Amino acid sequence: MAFRKADWPRRLRSTEWFGGSSRDHIYHRSWMKNQGLPADLFDGRPVIGICNTWSELTPCNAHLRDLAERVKHGIYEAGGLPVEFPVFSTGESTLRPTAMMFRNLAAMDVEEALRGNPLDGVVLLAGCDKTTPALLMGAASVDIPAILVSGGPMLNGWFRGERVGSGTALWQMSEAIKAGTMSREDFLEAEQAMSRSPGSCNTMGTASTMASMAEALGMALSGNAAIPAVDSRRRVMAHLTGRRIVEMVKDDLKPSDILTRRAFENAIRVNGAIGGSTNAVIHLLAIAGRVGVDLTLDDWDRLGRDVPTIVNLMPSGRYLMEEFFYAGGLPVVVRRLGEAGLLHKDALTVSGGPIWDEVKDVRNWNEDVILPAERALTAQGGIAVLRGNLAPGGAVLKPSAASPHLMRHRGRAVVFEDIDDYKAKIADETLDIDETCVMVLKNCGPKGYPGMAEVGNMGLPPKVLRKGITDMVRISDARMSGTAYGTVVLHAAPEAAAGGPLAIVRDGDMIEIDVESRRLHLDVPEAEIAARLAAWTPTVAPPAGGYARMFAEHVQGADTGADFDFLRGSRGKAVPRDSH
Ligand code: FES
Repeated sequence: MAFRKADWPRRLRSTEWFGGSSRDHIYHRSWMKNQGLPADLFDGRPVIGICNTWSELTPCNAHLRDLAERVKHGIYEAGGLPVEFPVFSTGESTLRPTAMMFRNLAAMDVEEALRGNPLDGVVLLAGCDKTTPALLMGAASVDIPAILVSGGPMLNGWFRGERVGSGTALWQMSEAIKAGTMSREDFLEAEQAMSRSPGSCNTMGTASTMASMAEALGMALSGNAAIPAVDSRRRVMAHLTGRRIVEMVKDDLKPSDILTRRAFENAIRVNGAIGGSTNAVIHLLAIAGRVGVDLTLDDWDRLGRDVPTIVNLMPSGRYLMEEFFYAGGLPVVVRRLGEAGLLHKDALTVSGGPIWDEVKDVRNWNEDVILPAERALTAQGGIAVLRGNLAPGGAVLKPSAASPHLMRHRGRAVVFEDIDDYKAKIADETLDIDETCVMVLKNCGPKGYPGMAEVGNMGLPPKVLRKGITDMVRISDARMSGTAYGTVVLHAAPEAAAGGPLAIVRDGDMIEIDVESRRLHLDVPEAEIAARLAAWTPTVAPPAGGYARMFAEHVQGADTGADFDFLRGSRGKAVPRDSH
């Protein structure tokens, strides 16, 4: 039976603003009417916000104004009143020092905009990496009916007959330049082929992963994640989403009804099956923190461990989001998990029904793109959570993007104190490093950078690349782009800038990594480690002021989602008092 928690018609939240004849009611209505809205639109119908992360500085979201119009069509059609508003947009490719530093700021913007305005429900328009979690976090903390529609991925890039995957190709080509196997002219020519349509990264990077997470969590309509940005069906999806939110308001179907522990467990398994980004770990932990679901890093390891990666997309595989859509998209993956007993079939979605009802009849149209289990990219997908004296709070690694021969490795540490130290040394031909070494990067965690930049997949030294070597073990407290690859240990917690053990690693120390046993070990006597930690003093100066200072003072560790300490939990939709 479809979800229905409240009778309809009933008095809505927006009626507090618009439904009466007092001075304040007239004030609220009259000013809205300067936009040409007829009086009967204020008759108690659902007022639906369209929370838009459109920005020309977030190129992946630059087409969202058009999509918002399609959402409006659906809202009007279903009897609601749409009101579009902008929120802070975090453009991954442009925003410095890193878009991640502004995810929490955007989430605050969303939360306060939803709470302070006369909204009964909201459609969240997202695309580029951090925009999706920011919107979900903000909406979860207010807990009015909310549904997400993604901008959709770019069309495939093509260069000289080969697919060009957003980000992935950029990392590969920049390494090829350093190795001397690609010319600068060819690189510039490839640039023209990388981003050939509106939309977000076309690989299974963070944007595609988070769109998939939103769908797997039940916060978007089934099929939302993969439709290309420029496909007419993306507009249809926006239109249907507009229709659906009006019904969700009538039924009082809220994020807290959908974002249950079972929903997060489904999403974690879906992430394993799609070979999703390590960034999903941080974002889902943060979203869970907003709704009081006690999700941990160990849940990621436990639930994802037996999930084969069956989606053959870059960076782990071969294809791109366009082909994923043609193959059937995420619903096929969810169905496969259900058939394998790896899905909570009864988890509620924005549809008002269980997730299984949405996927049980879908078909896989291309078994090279969505692989049978026996041809999985890796039998154990998901995210491996490593622990040991180097990361007692945990560190993550994406097995599907790593090199099998490095999953168990012992090597000599070559340490970079921060990203500037790395940049200064890495091309130095006298640097004492070879492919057996373990590259260690410090002070790039949430407080250290600040913002936790995507620099964990630091490029290899040119002299190693010239030997034809393409991967080495790398360890840091940083993140890695979802489009990146390699045997890269990320999010080491506690981070170096907070005095975590990563801070005291020295050149020449031996480090052991064993992914199978989830071990990350600094092979230095415990007494020596204790002495080094006791002598450690902070090396990262706190930001002088502004938002960066608030960020550094309040951001929590990557192992709990890097949310602000004062933002965890839901604060509800009640507004303390009116403004007049
Ligand atoms: Fe925006 Fe990749 S840079 S989605």
